[in-house]
Amino acid sequence: ETQFRESLYIVSEFAKKYFIEQLTETEEGQSIGLSYFKERGFTKATIEKFELGYSPAKRNAFTEAAEKKGYGKNILEASGLSIYKETEHGIDRFRERIIFPIHSFSGRTLGFGGRILRSDVKAAKYLNSPESEIYHKSKILYGVFQAKQAILKNNECLLVEGYTDVISLHQAGIENVVASSGTALTPDQIRLIKRLTPNVTILYDGDPAGIKASFRGIDLILEQELNVKVLLFPEGDDPDSFARKHNSDEILEYINQNATDFIQFKAKILLEEAKDNPVKKAELIRDIIQSIGLIPSVIQRELYIQETSKLMDVREEVLFKELEQTIQRKS
Ligand code: CTP
Ligand code: MN
Ligand code: MN
Ligand code: MN
Ligand code: MN
Repeated sequence: ETQFRESLYIVSEFAKKYFIEQLTETEEGQSIGLSYFKERGFTKATIEKFELGYSPAKRNAFTEAAEKKGYGKNILEASGLSIYKETEHGIDRFRERIIFPIHSFSGRTLGFGGRILRSDVKAAKYLNSPESEIYHKSKILYGVFQAKQAILKNNECLLVEGYTDVISLHQAGIENVVASSGTALTPDQIRLIKRLTPNVTILYDGDPAGIKASFRGIDLILEQELNVKVLLFPEGDDPDSFARKHNSDEILEYINQNATDFIQFKAKILLEEAKDNPVKKAELIRDIIQSIGLIPSVIQRELYIQETSKLMDVREEVLFKELEQTIQRKS
């Protein structure tokens, strides 16, 4: 059992090195993979830091190389790197994609994300390793290994959606950043952050999915007694695209000036919808109170009630009454 897990770690390490070698030392990898990274503005140092790679177009390039090295069908299949169907010949999961290795907290390779480069092929933009004994998507954060020192030092963790957001911010000198790898943040991922800092700032994409995910993320983070701020990027931008248009100082300034606490964030988004409609405004206030009700600390709740009272122009005692009801409904 533990031996099997160990084998999965070893084959993942082998695969990571294989994809790096394909990127840097083959004609195909250089002309397709490296030039794509160049186009995106990733430097050589960045590519090395995140151990980015390339998987060739040939159907079984990796599987063949791995089998030649003595890796068996069982372990290759369990790692998700090879797929064996009817034929006894395995094919590669990742083909003609750039590869993002996913590391554990301590730096072991657990799995991979692969981004498609061609626009003429109909396939998901990103393909990820399937769940395995060592890779549990909901329990890991992309970039945590490269970010943990900076998170401790800054006593803050920036949370983004994607691989390239993490990488571009690093390249701009902002290193306390991890990705939930998609918009569905999980309690386990928040617990991982909590080992390093109680302060989280959500930097999701400036689109409806990003806003919706921010609302969900806020409540999950509050429930675990962490402090949460939110920053929304301009419509159509994500941290990566933003970082490419601005220098490090401008990015930092944007983050510092636009990150707001969760109440202001909710109020801003929802007030636009509510306008002068008292029914809608009441709904918004209940929504905010519901989030405050998730916070375990009584003192913090009190402070947030004060803030909401000022922001919404509603008396504190009314808000406390509503809060009491929310908490009773929960228990
Ligand atoms: N994602 C995924 N599978 C998909 C789409 C997205 O796993 N089919 C995850 C990836 O981790 C991705 C993140 O969700 O990095 C955010 O998705 P998206 O914003 O669509 O991609 P970007 O990271 O912005 O990638 P790019 O800039 O290369 O388009
Ligand atoms: Mn496990
Ligand atoms: Mn997105
Ligand atoms: Mn994005
Ligand atoms: Mn992007």
